[in-house]
Amino acid sequence: MRAIFHLAIILLVFPACAQPPSRPGIPSIAEIDKPPIIEYKHRALPEVSRNGMIAATDKLSAEIGVDILRRGGNAVDAAVATGFALAVSYPRAGNLMGGGFMLIHLADEDKQVVIDYRETAPAAAHRDLYLDDRGEIDRQREFFSHQSAAVPGTVAGLIYALENYGTMSLKEVLEPSIRMAFEGVEVSFALEYELEVRGKRLRADEAARKIFFKPDGGFYRLGDTLVQQDLGNTLTRIAEDGLDGFYGGETARKIVDNMEANDGLITLEDLASYEVKEREPLRGNYRGYEVVLPPPPSSGGVHIIQMLNILSGYDLASLGHNSAAYIHRLTEVMKLAYADRSKYLADTDFTPVPVEELTSMVYADKLRASIDLERARPSVDIAPGAHLPYESHDTTHYSVMDAQGNAVSNTYTLNFSFGSGIMVPGTGMLLNNEMGDFAAKPGYANAFGMVGGETNKIEPRKRPLSSMTPTMVFKDGKPWMVTGAPGGSVIITAVLQTLLNAIDFDMNIATAGMEARIHHQWSPDQLRLEPGISPDTDRLLQAMGHNTSITPRTPTCVRTVALENGTLLGATDPRRPGGWVARY
Ligand code: DON
Repeated sequence: MRAIFHLAIILLVFPACAQPPSRPGIPSIAEIDKPPIIEYKHRALPEVSRNGMIAATDKLSAEIGVDILRRGGNAVDAAVATGFALAVSYPRAGNLMGGGFMLIHLADEDKQVVIDYRETAPAAAHRDLYLDDRGEIDRQREFFSHQSAAVPGTVAGLIYALENYGTMSLKEVLEPSIRMAFEGVEVSFALEYELEVRGKRLRADEAARKIFFKPDGGFYRLGDTLVQQDLGNTLTRIAEDGLDGFYGGETARKIVDNMEANDGLITLEDLASYEVKEREPLRGNYRGYEVVLPPPPSSGGVHIIQMLNILSGYDLASLGHNSAAYIHRLTEVMKLAYADRSKYLADTDFTPVPVEELTSMVYADKLRASIDLERARPSVDIAPGAHLPYESHDTTHYSVMDAQGNAVSNTYTLNFSFGSGIMVPGTGMLLNNEMGDFAAKPGYANAFGMVGGETNKIEPRKRPLSSMTPTMVFKDGKPWMVTGAPGGSVIITAVLQTLLNAIDFDMNIATAGMEARIHHQWSPDQLRLEPGISPDTDRLLQAMGHNTSITPRTPTCVRTVALENGTLLGATDPRRPGGWVARY
């Protein structure tokens, strides 16, 4: 009754919300925005399109991808173009020297593949690489030195995707990025802000200072033009020589010279032998939806399936969204999953990981049975942990769908914002600091406060464990939702809650991404609540024994596209500035 009353008021006060009559030949709003999208119960509305769509973190790069779709490219062509473009327009996370995971759905073959282009440890890396004489972790060397860099996978990954699943040439998809590097990027608020936040570190590196600051040393400001000549040349070499234009020739030489001059580990041989791995995705089933996710060395797939399996035993919808009873169950499940992550997860090419067991319903039933529905279980009772403060970081995710029903979910990163802040002179490229995702000392926490076990120890050519979780959900065998997020350890819980919001609480994708979220990662034993979780709920949770803290928004943002009744929907959650849904 109250709902009808509210709707009547909305229509009275905002007559524009009423549906205009449909004209012949032109679909009415009711036909384009199917009712579930415009129902007033949703707090936010997604963008809508019929042809192709990209939800990304940056307008310029998302529009470059959509332009590729407009010119007849498929979702993979567009994803590759956007991936290269972000290296120019969004240098804090877009990259050529990082790595990531791309999940692709091919409509014709009804097939999904994961392209693992995660970085690898250089051949000279070893278990105790970052330990000093006293056996303590040298965090400066681990995160902010040439030794922090793992062998980059991005260029190989994007080229692999294009050659195997795209339709356009490398030159065609690279052309807009090359132009943007030479002609300059209009500095957005997000870029101005982040350059200022990271100013100290970037200024300390001579090559980075030359690129990211004005000749007089001042900051680039909103509306200024940032030209990246060296990066344009590097991209041109890739356009001309493909893999060899990066993993060999002048670019490789420049990387290795810089390594040799600074005690770095990456060699010509490391670069030449970098390999992309195409992997079979993991599949889960949740309330009739098929959830498709990357396998290790991403931990997101295993743990999202594990958590959904446990949660499937509860009627979450009846508990009420973000009620204390709901958050309690969610938190207990998160703790169990992150405790397992610390012990079992790693690169399966080096260490056996019990993926099947962790994602089995039998195990989920056992874990569910161990949850006390009234009391929080202290993390120490699940397994021992260690603490480290959260570091600043950055990754970027984008989701793509084309008119043919192909889809791409891509997450890639340099690890921290602008990686280690070190630039390879003459290339315009920043080094990643992805080696920090290994367990520098098994049993100790990494930059995201997550404890890593012996399984994730450093070994030559091994891939560090990741939380990046590009995700797809299928309904009745058809792609329904494509999503993912940056944010290190919070990626997994952000994606999980976006799925639960859409599936259990029937929210559209815009609302599902923006609702207040919670996060617990077992260690530290702290339940982080975003503003928007009510103080009453917080009190109830504390009374159950949770160690809560109201945090500012969690450092993440989901980027989602979905296909509903033949209409494409797109949304970027507003936790970070600059999110953009490009469409045509
Ligand atoms: O692979 C990982 O899990 C991390 N290197 C990701 C870092 C990240 O998401 C930082 N983002 N905001």
